[in-house]
Amino acid sequence: SIPKFVKIVEVGPRDGLQNEKDIVPTAIKVELIKMLVSSGLPVVEATSFVSPKWVPQLADAKDVMEAIQNVGGARFPVLTPNLKGFEAAVAAGAKEVAIFASASESFSKSNINCTIEDSLTRYRDIALDARKLSIPVRGYISCVVGCPVEGAVPPSKVAYVAKELYDMGCSEISLGDTIGVGTPGTVVPMLETVLDVVPIDKLAVHFHDTYGQALSNILASLQMGISTVDSSISGLGGCPYAKGASGNVATEDVVYMLNGLGVKTNVDLEKLMLAGDFICKHLGRPSGSKTAIALNRI
Ligand code: HMG
Ligand code: MG
Repeated sequence: SIPKFVKIVEVGPRDGLQNEKDIVPTAIKVELIKMLVSSGLPVVEATSFVSPKWVPQLADAKDVMEAIQNVGGARFPVLTPNLKGFEAAVAAGAKEVAIFASASESFSKSNINCTIEDSLTRYRDIALDARKLSIPVRGYISCVVGCPVEGAVPPSKVAYVAKELYDMGCSEISLGDTIGVGTPGTVVPMLETVLDVVPIDKLAVHFHDTYGQALSNILASLQMGISTVDSSISGLGGCPYAKGASGNVATEDVVYMLNGLGVKTNVDLEKLMLAGDFICKHLGRPSGSKTAIALNRI
């Protein structure tokens, strides 16, 4: 039994654009976000308040937030790696944040320059302050099936981090197959293990399409009852600290599949494709969405 409604969390402006070689101008980011919102997406991850030395692509986070302050109809969470980032995000008007831990020690080190335990300590501080301000905190876990350095990641490690994030008050926990190596054969046992410690309505899935497995993994997750799916317009993305990671699953492809399944999303595929065309034209390359390519031919 598949959920009747799926909430799509659009991560393109953050997870996609953080990975572009050429920095995208603020005005283009803002226009993209507005187009994504007008397609009906309920949540658009807007940017990250991370170190500009680590991710220069998103150094304009404050300006992006200022420009979308009066855009209604969607929520705009932003990534915050520490209290410094959290405070900057709140000052810039963020009403929701996301913290990002890893199930793999090596990836934690290369992505946020600290151990998993140290990251959880930082995140507890953020969660405490966020609670005082009634700011919802989404918790990401990277490398939930595989790590670029360590290889296969045991489900018990994912469940451990998921429980810590849940216990500190995260409103949602997004399980990321950062390098896109998972298949339903590894994703389902991982989800079963995490479901022992976190209720299903608090979980989201976040797949990258490196091996072309993202839609299969999403379908398997839906069949287990998960109803929140992360995706990125035109399949933008990758991860600057995960060599070989290709883009996130394309939002257009997810919407096409969900439409076919009769699952509601509130997203208008035609308007979504306009947003995809807009950013692909700017980036000067074809869409990473098979649906967009197919429908644009007709
Ligand atoms: P660090 O170098 O260990 O930090 O970086 P530090 O505390 O030693 O500070 C060094 C400098 O950075 C200082 O400046 C700080 O002020 C500054 P300096 O004195 O040298 O001029 N700094 C900051 N500046 C702005 N905003 C901040 C901030 N914090 C410190 N928030 C740090 C540690 C966590 C900051 C760094 O490693 C970092 O920013 N990492 C972010 C990496 C990132 O964004 N990765 C991509 C997102 S995760 C992802 O894509 C996976 C996901 O999509 C899930 C999936 O796909 O599976 C979520
Ligand atoms: Mg990602």
